[in-house]
Amino acid sequence: MKMWGGRFQAETDALMREFGDSIRFDRRLYRADVQGSIAYAGALARVGLISAEEREELTAGLEQVQAEFDAGTFQIEPGDEDIHTAVERRLGELVGPAAGRLHTGRSRNDQVATDLRLYLLDEINSLHKELVALQEAILQQAENHLGVVMPGYTHLQPAQPILFSHWLMAYFWKFQRDRERLANAARRTQVCPLGSGALAGNPFGLDRRALAADLGFDRVSENSVDGVSDRDFVVEFLAWAALTQVHLSGMAEDLILWSSREFGFVELDERYTTGSSLMPQKKNPDALELLRGKSGRIVGHLTGLLTTLKGLPLAYNKDLQEDKEGLFDSIDTLKLELAVAAGVVRTLQVNPDRMETALDAGLLATDLADHLVRQGVPFRESHHLAGLAVRRAEELGCDLRELDLAEYRAIHPAFDGEVYALLDIRRSVEARVSEGGTASTAVKAQIEQAYVNLSI
Ligand code: ARG
Repeated sequence: MKMWGGRFQAETDALMREFGDSIRFDRRLYRADVQGSIAYAGALARVGLISAEEREELTAGLEQVQAEFDAGTFQIEPGDEDIHTAVERRLGELVGPAAGRLHTGRSRNDQVATDLRLYLLDEINSLHKELVALQEAILQQAENHLGVVMPGYTHLQPAQPILFSHWLMAYFWKFQRDRERLANAARRTQVCPLGSGALAGNPFGLDRRALAADLGFDRVSENSVDGVSDRDFVVEFLAWAALTQVHLSGMAEDLILWSSREFGFVELDERYTTGSSLMPQKKNPDALELLRGKSGRIVGHLTGLLTTLKGLPLAYNKDLQEDKEGLFDSIDTLKLELAVAAGVVRTLQVNPDRMETALDAGLLATDLADHLVRQGVPFRESHHLAGLAVRRAEELGCDLRELDLAEYRAIHPAFDGEVYALLDIRRSVEARVSEGGTASTAVKAQIEQAYVNLSI
């Protein structure tokens, strides 16, 4: 018997059933659904709507249902529209009439909103751990390669020398903010809508706060109409996923470039690359390309849900069932991506020699300008003068280090013999000691701060 069949005479059209059913994707909510139902049975018993004995029967039956799902033996029947109907149908088979009392005052509307929050909170926990593991891998590599200098880029043009560790740590902080955003989103997911009923609230005097506490929620939703229709927490999660994805794909792009033969700054471990079926010499960065390419679907899930939610009237509408597949896919994809990214970083080989080859004196033109500033030349002017030196060196086919002092002095008398001491890659790096700079003391301090942030 259908849970809503009373007023119907005709059978649901077979295609309509296939169209409307969500069991094929929402069955993964089974643990949350069982957990929510056990707590709900407790709430019903507390107000005397079911006896203590019935509560025990229901609890034992629900635990049995969960065990069947866990063991993979749960049989989905044709009438099981979604996870809620499937669990209730099976519960009826297991415990008989008591199962018919469980749904008192409850609707699938407050039920699904509760299940989804419980499920997501659990997944947020594991994603949080995956993020930490990635940050640890980054931190480890940054520590291991503290002496390595490479060109830093803007516009993908060589800009100034920086420590390889400094580049790497830039991603640490991006992922740190992702972790903070995830924790923040979790706080707004920690709200229990159960007891909102279909939309108007619960008429049986249920203690919603006790129910929420039982389920481990921080608080109850303030408004039942909002409680059943609010999917902000899913949107926030998908926005978190999209931004984390953008960070992953940026890091992947850097590493794809640098592992190319042309750069050769890093070498990817064979475990994260593949060969070509045609060209025997190829070692393709598939892991990184997928970390970049998954952006389409992850960003798509965010815009997809926002579009679904736009213009929905209150309160529950079946449109809301569309909140799940994108969410589940984002969770699964990100979980795998974060673990793979950590593996790629952990096993990354660094080639300091190739980085050094890419470091020419042109990267020190800013230092040249800074030198004139210290002699009292305004920066706007010194920038121009350093540019003239770069051009002169280019004309003569030499680099800034090989340019005669006479040439420098012809450009500006404030240039003195000190320019040659200045034109040193390592000196340039070590000069940038201010907080957040690339000098090794500053990067060490940054790494220390990173450890503190990881532990909280
Ligand atoms: N499968 C539904 C969903 O995911 C459960 C809620 C159904 N509620 C309803 N009034 N039909 O949204």
